[in-house]
Amino acid sequence: MSVSKTSSETVHVNDSSNAIVMKGITKKYGNFTALDNVDLTVPEGTIFGLLGPNGAGKTTIIKVLTALIPADAGEARVSGHDVKKEPKLVRANIGWVAAEVILDDDLTAMENLWLQAKLQNLQEWKERANDLLKYFDLFDRKDTKVGKYSTGMRKKLEIALALLHQPKVIFMDEPTIGLDPGTRRMLWQLITGINREYGVTILLTSHYIEEADALCSNLAIIDHGKIVATGTPSELKSKVNADIIEIGLNYEPDVTVFERMEGVLDASRTENGMRLKVTASEKILPRILSSLKIEGVVKINVDKPSLETVFIDLTGKRLSEEDNKMDMRKFYATLRMARR
Ligand SMILES: Nc1ncnc2c1ncn2[C@@H]1O[C@H](COP(=O)(O)OP(=O)(O)O)[C@@H](O)[C@H]1O
Ligand SMILES: [Mg+2]
Repeated sequence: MSVSKTSSETVHVNDSSNAIVMKGITKKYGNFTALDNVDLTVPEGTIFGLLGPNGAGKTTIIKVLTALIPADAGEARVSGHDVKKEPKLVRANIGWVAAEVILDDDLTAMENLWLQAKLQNLQEWKERANDLLKYFDLFDRKDTKVGKYSTGMRKKLEIALALLHQPKVIFMDEPTIGLDPGTRRMLWQLITGINREYGVTILLTSHYIEEADALCSNLAIIDHGKIVATGTPSELKSKVNADIIEIGLNYEPDVTVFERMEGVLDASRTENGMRLKVTASEKILPRILSSLKIEGVVKINVDKPSLETVFIDLTGKRLSEEDNKMDMRKFYATLRMARR
């Protein structure tokens, strides 16, 4: 089996070693194009992340790949099976960990597993269920009603249910949404753990940069139904080898002044100010500030090379809702430096 990876755009992998292949998938909801000619290749055994803002089309991709909804054009194979022609074989080979609650609180963990086995029409499931309960440290609590479980224990059981029929691929749609940071980190460990222990390929969606970076060996960045970049987190980061400075202003700046500055790779207007792509923000920030009307500066934001800067560079907007606003003390210190 030859796997040669020359760059993020050209991944030459034998089809047999790919858990998921999508080619030219388009999906419309009425007149609205939710997926626009999507190509995606997920190598077997990887944790693959679909990273994009709300409404980008992440859930729609999962729905197409799990044969829940048909695509309007294109082809998709999961675990070697065509989603359109062999939906049953696709479903037999996949598991889905949904964001919604799927556990029955009035049943014990073992009863939930039994119900899952019924739903999946599994004959031999008891031994696997016991093994999974042991793996997830739930064996001692197998006869406890799930209503009494903590959030972390529930997550473990949800994953155990998804693994019961020994799927080759697991889909996780925004798996950590709404979880507290501690439980989120525990879930990250579980995800990498089952990937290693059971060899399952995991396709997860996220709109958290940090999560995609920490968990995924491969990523596709999606925006408005289009894949805008693919690669490993470090390949993606090396694409934008620059800092991005965003400056909020209460007046209209003349960006040509900044375009000409040494160390500025790009300068553009934004809704509330301007955005600069620079080689080294520490060096250049004082010079930039001294060229601005300081009383007109309302906000400064500096991003070091990260998946966030990749997203900003590709789409002109920020992926995280939370801006990491510059601490104002640091801001005034920089200002004093600029005036020296
Ligand atoms: N059943 C539907 N009918 C109409 N529009 C939909 C439907 N499902 C999703 N959409 C739209 O398609 C786009 C992509 O949705 P979705 O795949 O859920 O995005 P994501 O999971 O990335 O947040 C969104 O603009 C959403 O409003
Ligand atoms: Mg979604």
